[in-house]
Amino acid sequence: MDLNDAILGRRSVRDYTAQSVDEGTIRGLIDAAVQAPSAVNQQPWTFTVVRDQAVLAGISRDAKSHMLATMPAGPHSDHFQSVLKDANFHIFYNAPVLILISGVAQGPWIVEDCALAAENLMLAARAAHLGTCWIGFAQSFLNTSDGKNALGLPTSWVAVAPIIVGHPKGSPPPVPRKEPEIRWVG
Ligand SMILES: Cc1cc2nc3c(=O)[nH]c(=O)nc-3n(C[C@H](O)[C@H](O)[C@H](O)COP(=O)(O)O)c2cc1C
Repeated sequence: MDLNDAILGRRSVRDYTAQSVDEGTIRGLIDAAVQAPSAVNQQPWTFTVVRDQAVLAGISRDAKSHMLATMPAGPHSDHFQSVLKDANFHIFYNAPVLILISGVAQGPWIVEDCALAAENLMLAARAAHLGTCWIGFAQSFLNTSDGKNALGLPTSWVAVAPIIVGHPKGSPPPVPRKEPEIRWVG
């Protein structure tokens, strides 16, 4: 797939078929992720691939409770509250795979490095006709000791990018973008 088509066609996918994603494909997505640039070429990322649906359901349940207990008030609080209180809401949308990108080294640019790897992974998935969605709802829980225990992550790791992957059930419609504000200096 042409890069521009992948960039323009990538959407956050929230509805997946039950079809699994094979190991070779997952490794291919991770190979694309690690081609991202990283500060001082530290490549400070690790990839935790979670395919156990019972584990994902448990994290979904606990992350919802954690978010409800800790979420600061903000412009989307009411919407988030009602979504998170819905017992049927699965934060991973029953996707067959979660790939969690975590930062392992100390350093000021860990989050940026992992986020760049995540975008590479999402674009590579799009090129392979797979869907993805970054699940921010999981992040704060995965950085608690209970969250790290759930996936066996060392306490020093920072969970940055929980990305679900699967075969999309349909094609989500385009999501409008704001006109970019551009200031030209010179
Ligand atoms: C840091 C981050 C956190 C996100 N968290 C969630 C989430 O928890 N649940 C969800 O359904 N989508 C989540 N999204 C997806 C955004 O809602 C989505 O990217 C945005 O609406 C634009 O749509 P698009 O990705 O289809 O272009 C997140 C995206 C980012 C970058």
